[in-house]
Amino acid sequence: MELLKRKIIEKGTVKEGNILKVDNFLNHQLDIDLLNEVGKEFKRRFAEENITKILTAEVSGIAIAAITAQYFHVPVVFAKKTESKNLDEETFEGNVYSYTKEKQYKIRVSKKYIAKGENILIIDDFLANGQAILGLKEIVDAAEANLVGAGVVIEKGFQEGGKILRADHINIQSLAIIETMEDNKIVFRDYRD
Ligand code: G4P
Ligand code: NA
Ligand code: NA
Repeated sequence: MELLKRKIIEKGTVKEGNILKVDNFLNHQLDIDLLNEVGKEFKRRFAEENITKILTAEVSGIAIAAITAQYFHVPVVFAKKTESKNLDEETFEGNVYSYTKEKQYKIRVSKKYIAKGENILIIDDFLANGQAILGLKEIVDAAEANLVGAGVVIEKGFQEGGKILRADHINIQSLAIIETMEDNKIVFRDYRD
């Protein structure tokens, strides 16, 4: 997606530890015009699928999922990272291993909000190690729903997540795939878009 790649080049900065800072438009301040284009592009890529719900994880996925959902006309559910008294006791759970924190944590969705047989599209901001999407897939599987695919805004193609998820036959659609970002120079993998 050219508009997105241009935005990443113009506004993104590469930080130590292979972190791409995009909080000017994606992670902190939100560029709503850009997010609308992102939503339209996900709709185009999954147009043939009868999606009934969009699933993401808090926090950064929520805005992207919500704007995308306007093009699918389906609800958004976000998995919660902290256990809270308000969350129903009956939940579907997924496990996410965080490489940065070197520990595993759980994400949860109330059983009320994913029904058996639903067609679920996962949306997330980043695909790096793939752990977040695998945890969301666990929730979809536990609900006996169908995982139609996952729409990712930025995939870090030099990390293993994309390979692992595609090997698992998940339809991953990434709108920008970064091949390398050494010495502050961002290079995109340019097949598909
Ligand atoms: P994964 O999401 O593919 O499993 O990768 P990883 O465990 O490496 O990522 C941990 C968190 O860091 C995730 O956010 C992910 O979106 C984010 N992340 C990974 N690489 C980058 C990057 O280059 N830039 C930025 N800005 N974020 C990155 P999270 O823990 O789910 O947190 P939240 O922000 O959604 O609350
Ligand atoms: Na995220
Ligand atoms: Na994030």
